[in-house]
Amino acid sequence: MQVIIFDDAQQVAANAAEWVAELINKKPNPVLGLATGSTPISLYQQLVNKHQTDQLSFKNVISFNLDEYLGIDANNAQSYRHFMNVHLFDHVDIDKNKTYLPICAQGENPREQGLAYEEKIKQANGVDLQILGIGANGHIGFNEPTSSLASRTRIKTLTQQTLTDNSRLFDDNEFQPTLAMTMGIATILDARYVLLMATGENKAQAVKNMVAGPLSAMCPASALQMHENAIVLLDKAAASQLDDQEYYQWANDQNIKINQEFGLYHNY
Ligand code: GLP
Repeated sequence: MQVIIFDDAQQVAANAAEWVAELINKKPNPVLGLATGSTPISLYQQLVNKHQTDQLSFKNVISFNLDEYLGIDANNAQSYRHFMNVHLFDHVDIDKNKTYLPICAQGENPREQGLAYEEKIKQANGVDLQILGIGANGHIGFNEPTSSLASRTRIKTLTQQTLTDNSRLFDDNEFQPTLAMTMGIATILDARYVLLMATGENKAQAVKNMVAGPLSAMCPASALQMHENAIVLLDKAAASQLDDQEYYQWANDQNIKINQEFGLYHNY
């Protein structure tokens, strides 16, 4: 894992945007894995900005989102489809027909829909760069603690902690789904690169468990320890419980030097 600690959340977003822009500029048909939640909103703002000012074009991008709620349709303002439209898709030149979310409409068989999503990712030749946030309980996507580390796209029942954490986004009388379709942990690990963003003190414990804790289904994000190219972008608050902050900084300085000498190499 490459852990990079920034002064604040804006710098985390700016660095994440550099990663995305580099992929889009480098690969003719880039495949992006996208995430929802409050954390990546500032990344999407930066990408919209790059589209408007630096002509960063999304016209060849194919995207796969991590997860989607069950029981609400795409037009519902709480759907992750709506979130993606509002924060990114409506503001860039992406072909919305090539933006996918793991949807399971009422009456559809979730197992078949999960398999079909996996197949669609395969047909696109896999995800090049998967953006991730992290839940305060260590979840990635909606892979809650105890999720199989070998899991694939399927339905998950959300934990009480996640429901409480996300209740801030729902009005008192609004339906808050308790089930979601989510890429599995193995699906996420298949991406060529994973870029996890975490900001704020309330993520510090989960970040510590992910980076320095045991590999465990109780902290689904710890599965990233098994990924060859996992990059973790943190602000100081999210990094505050890590013991080895100086080492990460030192290692990052060395990486910058190596990149300067030999060029940036990403094996997309
Ligand atoms: C949500 C999403 C995750 C996200 C996490 C943290 O429930 N399913 O993909 O990473 O919770 O969200 P936030 O960035 O708002 O803290």
